[in-house]
Amino acid sequence: MAKASAPMEIDDASLPSSTTDKGKSLFASDPKSAPWVEKYRPQSLADVAAHRDIIDTIDRLTSENRLPHLLLYGPPGTGKTSTILAVARKLYGAQYKNMILELNASDDRGIDVVRQQIQNFASARSLSFGTKSTVKLVLLDEADAMTKDAQFALRRVIEKHTKSTRFALICNHVNKIIPALQSRCTRFRFAPLDSSNIRERLEHVIKAEGLDVDQGGLTSLVRLSNGDMRKALNILQSTHMSSQHINEEAVYLCTGNPMPKDIEQIAYWLLNESFKSAFNYISDVKMRKGLALVDIVREVTMFVFKIKMPPTIRVKLINDLADIEYRLSFACNDKLQLGSLISTFTNARCALVAAV
Ligand SMILES: Nc1ncnc2c1ncn2[C@@H]1O[C@H](COP(=O)(O)OP(=O)(O)OP(=O)(O)O)[C@@H](O)[C@H]1O
Ligand SMILES: [Mg+2]
Repeated sequence: MAKASAPMEIDDASLPSSTTDKGKSLFASDPKSAPWVEKYRPQSLADVAAHRDIIDTIDRLTSENRLPHLLLYGPPGTGKTSTILAVARKLYGAQYKNMILELNASDDRGIDVVRQQIQNFASARSLSFGTKSTVKLVLLDEADAMTKDAQFALRRVIEKHTKSTRFALICNHVNKIIPALQSRCTRFRFAPLDSSNIRERLEHVIKAEGLDVDQGGLTSLVRLSNGDMRKALNILQSTHMSSQHINEEAVYLCTGNPMPKDIEQIAYWLLNESFKSAFNYISDVKMRKGLALVDIVREVTMFVFKIKMPPTIRVKLINDLADIEYRLSFACNDKLQLGSLISTFTNARCALVAAV
């Protein structure tokens, strides 16, 4: 059931936080086993990487005690939850647990929760001693998982308790939030982090942990994270567990993703070899390196953009590859789909020959 706060995110001893707290462990008793995503969760707004305009605006509003209801949305691992938790730390310091009701997707999110828990919390008198704000905070993480009924009920609750309570809604898919709720909140979109932000934050963790990571390893981590900082830290930590020296190969091996040079080789076979040879070579590399066909198809699709060919042939090839990827997502037979992949390239090769 819902609770007033999640223990993993709170560390009273670390309050109030400052930029010098950067990287302070929440798992001080056993820092070695601590997941780095938690160990390096930003403690203050200044620690949040990227989104400078958004963070500065939220920081200013928090300092001036003018925080509106918030709706933070965007893809995973971009700092939405961390930002709100940092706001709560800034507002309430050690009183944090009394002043915030945090509900997330694992809790019951139906209309009853809105009617009872949120309503009870919002209407209860706050026990704030010496906090920066006496206004309480309801944090609805993963708000896109709320039922429509609950969202409609929340609309009224927000209105009724605006004086005493701020609501912060967080979600990945803003289109799942009803317009009436959206219009009651100030919306901020958290975009995927750009490579330089991911790189910088990774460098900070690498230094703090004293890791041996070369440039190839760092570039691979940035590439595979796709703008998701959580993913970047998780890959870094699991690669570190399997290998002391972190280079490109170690990162790709750990994630099971095909390396760029494997993809180049596979594309070469697809473009030059007979059906039988391509089938054998690709099956062999797939087995040896433990690659998933779906990853190969996705990376080969990206590779097709680098090959010079008439646009009509490229579009057809990419569409066909997307079909294969789609079928693979339904666990279609791998061998059949590998055959399909090779046939797709055979057709493209014929079209290329006819075009010259
Ligand atoms: N902007 C950021 N700056 C620094 N660290 C970040 C940032 N975004 C994410 N992280 C890292 O990733 C972890 C997860 O971040 P967070 O929980 O804030 O993501 P989120 O945007 O709420 O993702 P989700 O949509 O999946 O809930 C954090 O603990 C932190 O280590
Ligand atoms: Mg979150």
